[in-house]
Amino acid sequence: MKTTKTFINMKAAGEKITMVTAYDYPSAVICEKAGMDLLLVGDSLGMVVLGYESTIPVTMEDMIHHTKAVKRGAPNTFIVTDMPFMTYHGSIDETLKNARRLLQESGAAAVKLEGGKQIIQTVETLTNAGVPVMAHLGLTPQMVGVMGGYSVQAKEEEDAAVLISESLALEKAGAFAIVLECVPQQLAQIVTNKVNIPVIGIGAGQQTDGQVLVYHDMIGYGFHHIPKFVKSYGNVKDVMIDGLKKYKEEVQQMKFPAAEHSFNMKTETLDRLYG
Ligand code: KIV
Ligand code: NA
Repeated sequence: MKTTKTFINMKAAGEKITMVTAYDYPSAVICEKAGMDLLLVGDSLGMVVLGYESTIPVTMEDMIHHTKAVKRGAPNTFIVTDMPFMTYHGSIDETLKNARRLLQESGAAAVKLEGGKQIIQTVETLTNAGVPVMAHLGLTPQMVGVMGGYSVQAKEEEDAAVLISESLALEKAGAFAIVLECVPQQLAQIVTNKVNIPVIGIGAGQQTDGQVLVYHDMIGYGFHHIPKFVKSYGNVKDVMIDGLKKYKEEVQQMKFPAAEHSFNMKTETLDRLYG
């Protein structure tokens, strides 16, 4: 089983880290079979598998429910789960309770929190309590309402400098890794060089220590907006729609079920039934 230390060692050795989201049992089984280094039960599940407009409606109960399923499907993979919207901004007691539930009740190995300077103290408190924290900077979707949409972050010097100093502060506070979403690749490279913890990029170029993508987006199984930074490695939804259409056709034409899908009675039994 990989640990936070494995990922820090992978960075030091220049070995790329692969992470993908998973939200349920079958996706987790597939991701573990494919050898992903980490799985993220992202609150993107709000859009991807629950059909919401954003990650804002996602609750603790949703995260626990989905993380448990992922844990059953990928018992040997390091699982990070997102702390959902506003579950780590109130009292520290409430934050600790929520993090405890994600680890103890759901089986996650670590939690992910969005934000920089606002959450430094929280990251330190969680880490001191034994909760491994992955930070998330750049485009932070839980801020969609405040940001007024989704766009590339920290393109200008001032914002980029803030992001660099926040990365260093998060490392100092104890974060074991940082997700960097939708920032210029040059900035991602600077951050990657400055911190000793792994930087996992999404829409952040190829110089980060690893990459993360949303499972449904990368295999062609997503029905929400697919961002520019996603590469499609499959077209699962076409395969599925074709399969379902074929099934419908064969039922209509009485090609399915065939003899090999059906059960038989003994002739004597049948004779008696016909009486
Ligand atoms: O929820 C999610 O899928 C994420 C990744 C995009 C990093 O936070
Ligand atoms: Na997320």
